[in-house]
Amino acid sequence: MAHATLYFPPDFLWGTATAAHQVEGQNTNSDWWAAEESGMVAHRSGQACGWLDLETALADFDRAADMGTNAHRLSLEWSRIEPEPSVFNQEAIDYYRALLEGLRARGIEPMVTLHHFSNPQWLVEKGDFQSDLIVEYFQRFARRAAEAFGDLVPKWVTINEPVVYFYHRHLLRCFPPPKAPAGWSNGLRGLRGMLVAHAAAYHAIKAVRPKAQIGVAKHWVAFEPHRPGSPLDRWWAGMLSRGFNTLWMQAMTSGRIPLLFGGGRVNGLAGSFDFVGLNYYMRRPARFLSLGLPPPAPDALMSDGGFGEIYPRGLKAAIRANLAYDRPIYITENGLPDSQDRLRPGFLITHLHQIWHAINWNFPVMGYYHWSLIDNFEWDRGWTQRFGLIEVDPETQVRAIRPSGRLYGEICRSFTLSSRMVERYAIDLMPKLFPG
Ligand code: FCB
Repeated sequence: MAHATLYFPPDFLWGTATAAHQVEGQNTNSDWWAAEESGMVAHRSGQACGWLDLETALADFDRAADMGTNAHRLSLEWSRIEPEPSVFNQEAIDYYRALLEGLRARGIEPMVTLHHFSNPQWLVEKGDFQSDLIVEYFQRFARRAAEAFGDLVPKWVTINEPVVYFYHRHLLRCFPPPKAPAGWSNGLRGLRGMLVAHAAAYHAIKAVRPKAQIGVAKHWVAFEPHRPGSPLDRWWAGMLSRGFNTLWMQAMTSGRIPLLFGGGRVNGLAGSFDFVGLNYYMRRPARFLSLGLPPPAPDALMSDGGFGEIYPRGLKAAIRANLAYDRPIYITENGLPDSQDRLRPGFLITHLHQIWHAINWNFPVMGYYHWSLIDNFEWDRGWTQRFGLIEVDPETQVRAIRPSGRLYGEICRSFTLSSRMVERYAIDLMPKLFPG
């Protein structure tokens, strides 16, 4: 078999990603906490990964630095910073500054998300994204965040996965409910509210930090026809991809709200992003008119619990499709639940191989944030799914690096992916990636 080394650009960002509610614990003022307490969601976040204790978080940043990463994406827990309307908690602000300084001190560049699936409970009571009030509140939160942390944070994500949020909250109803009844029409109104809130936050951050780079972390799913020969399934796959993958991006580009979300123009929305953030996890089969999931093909390579089909080629296709927006591209999330680390080394290799290809086509992929640094509290699925490069025992909080974490470390430290690494971590891939 041939031996070769694939090089990445020397300024490539090698990152990992986390979200506040999934790692911090004790987010007692958030809608997730309320839903966990009431039993609306089956799992409890409790202490999560213990990051509320600064030393615990910093020790995980030591692990990220030892791995050789130079970037980390985390989110601010709004309900901690503004526990009551218009009351800003200095202790929480100091905590996040310490976290961000901790990253910087370790040579890790922070990317900060303002909204990652959780709301202050008081905001939900006011109607959150279904209410026009959200715009003022979100804009002010963004401005306060930029003032408090802007010197430490070059890259911002206003909202994480707006369409996934809509889908889980309003259609699957497995996320904490909004005040207005969940469902299509309120959900679409919420999506419209998210677009308006995003535009407001974008300009609020820019007013404080004109050089900040701001985007949205947009989930991308590789939809493909369930029955490849069926024109109806093919058409439906295209429709799902449009609704799920591209409508939001087109709205941010044109400044026009899609008719599906209520139509109209939004001041300041057109062009309100400096990079494209892509969260890519899987391929999904599309069956005509079904929003549910048909069974995967018998030969599909599935991650734990049927979370999704591993499909690395879809990542390059997603990158290619997003060239249309003419912005730098960051892979803001990519990963899989794999408690035994059976598939993760191969997953990392094959997805990074796709990115390497994309870069060699001169596609502007500037960084990669693996989901996740550590096992964490996976929303409505609790601790049943383990995404970490580092394993965490939620009871004892003991950490242990997985083989995939060691592999990622070798890649990050050398800015390369080599056949020697593939031989050691996923030898089965050798004939495909490095044929002799
Ligand atoms: C994404 C979420 C992230 C995590 C991963 C597995 O959709 O943004 O918080 O739950 O999935």
